[in-house]
Amino acid sequence: MVDFEKIIPREYTYPRAAAQLAEGEKEQCFAEAAALLKEHNAAVIAHYYCNADVQELAEKTGGFIGDSLEMAKWGRKSPFDTLIVCGVRFMGETAKILSPEKRILMPSLSAECSLDLGCPGEEFSRFCDENPDRTVVVYANTSAAVKARADWVVTSSIALELVEYLSSRGEKILWAPDRHLGAYIERMTGADMLRWQAHCVVHDEFKAQALEKLRAAYPDAAVLVHPESPAAVVAQADVVGSTSQLIRRASSLPQKTLIVATDSGIFYRLRQACPDKEMIIAPTGGEGATCKSCAHCPWMAMNGVKEIRAALTASDTASYEIQVPEDVRRGALVSLNRLLEFSDDLASGKIPRTRK
Ligand code: 13P
Ligand code: SF4
Repeated sequence: MVDFEKIIPREYTYPRAAAQLAEGEKEQCFAEAAALLKEHNAAVIAHYYCNADVQELAEKTGGFIGDSLEMAKWGRKSPFDTLIVCGVRFMGETAKILSPEKRILMPSLSAECSLDLGCPGEEFSRFCDENPDRTVVVYANTSAAVKARADWVVTSSIALELVEYLSSRGEKILWAPDRHLGAYIERMTGADMLRWQAHCVVHDEFKAQALEKLRAAYPDAAVLVHPESPAAVVAQADVVGSTSQLIRRASSLPQKTLIVATDSGIFYRLRQACPDKEMIIAPTGGEGATCKSCAHCPWMAMNGVKEIRAALTASDTASYEIQVPEDVRRGALVSLNRLLEFSDDLASGKIPRTRK
């Protein structure tokens, strides 16, 4: 039996965040980074949780900002030789798995994710071996080795549809690693799910009682929640979804105030999508609670424009370049390709959409 209490760390030592650019240095830093990107035929792919200046650089230099599924898709079809993946390590690995011919650099290879760290390959493999009758579905926030052991990879933007689809075929699911997202999918789909118990250090900190109080103070606000949050927070949401889904839905909501339970990096794009709305981050420190990762992922915060510049000027790129052993890459490619095909089939209508 896998003992989650023993495997999943309770505490993490957080890294130092990248310095934000001061107004006075921004123009020159951007110009230098843009020239380097051009010289290397490179593009920046940034997740919505990155610092605003990283997202702005991606936007101004022909790169891309998106959720984890969109980042993977964009990277795969982009014509650039080098991709600078600004996010956390599993996002860089995913880019490498899908585009082995490209050079994948990250501003820091130490940008982890507590879901990935909370689901080590060996223990996960044992969990799968103990439950051979279950279809193994893992969240994208996992190592390449865990993906290689899985039947399917999903992102939060597509998890409900995929599990509904598998469940309708009579399949029982083994889910990993996020406990809240897994429980949410189980509640929404009624699927038979055996769930790993890791958590996201950012979303796990949102506090339901404090959110209730905030809603009472802003009774006309809409509440937007990422499903990695605890069930009692999700239960208060007007919209639950992946980062892209939250941004898309926000602009069509009639409410002028948004309470947002996800990483505050999302405000960069959310403000562009809804310039006339007031945005408030959901509370992370309830009464008596402590918060060490207050609505901003400590590993996403390692991505900075100066670090991008350093990766592109390094004489030896080994400390920036993502490598995935070929046998692991091939294994992970199978489950990732299933995700991408499933996503294409949903978009084309080949598989009917069960949700908005
Ligand atoms: P998305 O798939 O919604 O981009 O989320 C990734 C992530 O790391 C959320 O914490
Ligand atoms: Fe992982 Fe949470 Fe950071 Fe997303 S926000 S990368 S799930 S630790």
